[in-house]
Amino acid sequence: MCQQFPKGIPKYQENTTYIIKDMKNILVVGAGGQIGSELVPYLRNIYGDSHVVAADLNCAPCMKLGENGPLENLDALDGKQYAEIVKKYKIDAIFNLVALLSATGEKNPQLAWKINMGALMNSLEIARENGAALFTPSSIGAFGNNTPHDGTPQDTIMHPSTIYGVCKVTGELLGDYYHQRFGVDARSVRFPGIISNETLPGGGTTDYAVEVYYAAVKGEQFTCPLPEGTYLDMMYMPDALKACVQLMEADPSKLKHRNSFNISAMSFEPSQILAAIQKRMPEFKMVYNVDPIKKAIAESWPNYMDDTCARNEWGWNPTWNLETMTDDMLKVIADKHAKGLLK
Ligand code: SER
Repeated sequence: MCQQFPKGIPKYQENTTYIIKDMKNILVVGAGGQIGSELVPYLRNIYGDSHVVAADLNCAPCMKLGENGPLENLDALDGKQYAEIVKKYKIDAIFNLVALLSATGEKNPQLAWKINMGALMNSLEIARENGAALFTPSSIGAFGNNTPHDGTPQDTIMHPSTIYGVCKVTGELLGDYYHQRFGVDARSVRFPGIISNETLPGGGTTDYAVEVYYAAVKGEQFTCPLPEGTYLDMMYMPDALKACVQLMEADPSKLKHRNSFNISAMSFEPSQILAAIQKRMPEFKMVYNVDPIKKAIAESWPNYMDDTCARNEWGWNPTWNLETMTDDMLKVIADKHAKGLLK
């Protein structure tokens, strides 16, 4: 059952009609990162190259995104510059992907708060002022030790133990607050670890599940930082991209939740991804050298989430599993390796 939680939140402005527009002009902030570098081309395919603006703090590594559409240098903490870009391109939907991930966040919690919350607050305010819709991902990292770990419900105890998670929970609350208080069309999903082959993630607890494929293709032994038996939700990038668009295009009258939906595609632990790779590359080897911080973080997160509400409210339905993803990851990375494109 997908009940709104908490029930009966008063609308501050009873007469607000939520203006839900089609996404026409989209801004992706943090476009050079793991998700952004693939979300920008994905959105450009759907909405047209000139209608999707890529923005990042440092465009140099993501110049590719400027080849067939607009690319802007943007420090998301600079609200003035951010607002100017939104006005310049008449943006009506923002994807705010700016974040320090969980393991990096623990090295400098103050900086993580400053960046993650600074970018979010600017995004919310600019969305409010310009009538734009806003997508900001939440994460499995929003949950904590007291959360039920198996079949983690949509609405349950959060209480994360990382600064990353504290930012995510705060972000979820702010997204709902801005929706209820100001009518901002804010929507979000709790992403699992995302596995991809375009841009490497950096500083996350789930990164091992990406790095292991690169090691396999390069013929290297992989050292896994999480212990055997650590189950985590994971998702292949094509499903993550599909989720972003599906949720932002969803009929708002069907959404009982907004910030943020559990979405899941697969759950596995390190020895299972090892087995999937070894099935295709029997010579591949993995050893364990556990990172105590990553271990503690991973153990505080769900083993697998219940994503029934996302399925019921906006038709979430993932396509990829560990086997099909492994086939594709190894093929794509091997092609790049053969072309000398891997560092
Ligand atoms: N992939 C993120 C991390 O590991 C979780 O959302 O930090």
